[in-house]
Amino acid sequence: MKAKITLAKEFKIGEIDKRIYGSFVEHLGRAVYGGIYEPDHPTADEDGFRGDVIDLVKELNVPIVRYPGGNFVSGYNWEDGVGPVESRPKRLDLAWGTTEPNTFGTNEFMKWCKKADTECMMAVNLGTRGPDEARNLVEYVNHKGGSAWSDMRIAHGYKEPWNVKLWCLGNEMDGRWQMGAKTAEEYGRTALEASKLMKWTDDSIETVLCGSSSRNSPTFGEWEATSLDIAYDSVDYVSLHQYYGNHDDDTQSFLALTLELDEFIHSVLCVCDYIKAKKRTKKTINLSFDEWNVWYHSNNAPYEKWSVAPPRLEDIYNFEDALLVGSMMITLLRHCDRIKIACLAQLVNVIAPIFTQTGGGIFKQTTYYPFEHLSNFGRGVALNPIISCPKYDCKAFTDVPYLESIATLDEEKEEMTLFIVNKSLDDEVVLDISLLDLEDYNPFEFISMDGYGAKDENGIDNPFVKPHKNEIPQSDGKNITALLKPFSWNVIRMRKY
Ligand code: AHR
Repeated sequence: MKAKITLAKEFKIGEIDKRIYGSFVEHLGRAVYGGIYEPDHPTADEDGFRGDVIDLVKELNVPIVRYPGGNFVSGYNWEDGVGPVESRPKRLDLAWGTTEPNTFGTNEFMKWCKKADTECMMAVNLGTRGPDEARNLVEYVNHKGGSAWSDMRIAHGYKEPWNVKLWCLGNEMDGRWQMGAKTAEEYGRTALEASKLMKWTDDSIETVLCGSSSRNSPTFGEWEATSLDIAYDSVDYVSLHQYYGNHDDDTQSFLALTLELDEFIHSVLCVCDYIKAKKRTKKTINLSFDEWNVWYHSNNAPYEKWSVAPPRLEDIYNFEDALLVGSMMITLLRHCDRIKIACLAQLVNVIAPIFTQTGGGIFKQTTYYPFEHLSNFGRGVALNPIISCPKYDCKAFTDVPYLESIATLDEEKEEMTLFIVNKSLDDEVVLDISLLDLEDYNPFEFISMDGYGAKDENGIDNPFVKPHKNEIPQSDGKNITALLKPFSWNVIRMRKY
């Protein structure tokens, strides 16, 4: 089939906030213990951090990592995870039915962030706890010294404050599975008071209000409107969470889910702007899409109750998952004027692009690659490509464009990148790329993932799903012609010359 993409500088959507390439580490399964932290591992450093994991996190170029949960945070006493390790208590984690040894906590994570060249997006417990413990944590983490909590940090061996700038006001507080779940009114009040006290403790921080736990949440829409109406003046972002699965084994419907994702983002923006209008305020609330991914392969996997860091949520991703992850990221970037933060949930082992064997090797899941390409090449501003391509109908949707695409322009580096998913299972696409006022950009690299079956996946001894380089597409100065293989992920990199 034939398709056309038109690009121009004027099609600018917005600046890409680098935090849109964030991720997430929760005290859950082997994300921390056996993931980022494994003191006995051959690659572990003096702090017990796995060096092979840090290398891949750096390669992924993740600018911010949300921590310590997730559902876990709603029962977490942060004080349990600081100070001498030998006196830290073991606690039952009611979120995941395991035992939390607390040998890794806030300071260990902050140290890990430094080593992994990333920043922390810290979540506070607004489930079993409230504003008081939240503001204490801000004081412990960010205050320079001379107060009880900041002096405690110094006594724990960390003289300098960590300066965490971004804080989540709880997690999925609408969900009945959440410890301390609340009504929208209860949550709005708690979040407002927590945010207020946290900002009075450190006025340089930003806070994220919990939106609904997903678009399918029964209170979706009303939850955002009610809690935001209450907390608007003190918060900066509203969160969105969404996971998808190919539950009916229908690849075309699965890949079309970005239409729903787009609608979801649009709806939350409408609610934010409705409250803005109601309040007649100049302040705009932006979005933090702080949990997104494919998640369904591991849902019913058994585990040993109350054990420490048992394997949980260890989805092994296949090729169609990689195409959806790429398509989801493209969808987020299409809204980068309002989505400032997004976190691929999660980073290591737990529904993650990086997979480790405890005591053993490491491999890159299929989903690693689209994230790596976008995070490394998708910087600068996002341009909305005008796409003209055939569409398909499937069980769940009609008029689904076969191509999903975004362009990014980094004027400083004089580089432009076009990311394209071809969702057609059978047809290759002869793509005509028309560069209106960008004609001095010429292709210098064309990377693809193609030729794989939908269910092909990687394993520790078999990392065979990976990108390859293609011949550089032909350009006549104004138009570029590229051939996109059926069912493929494509990255066309251009440079000004
Ligand atoms: O990322 C896994 C879980 O999904 C998180 O703990 C929770 O916030 C969400 O429901």
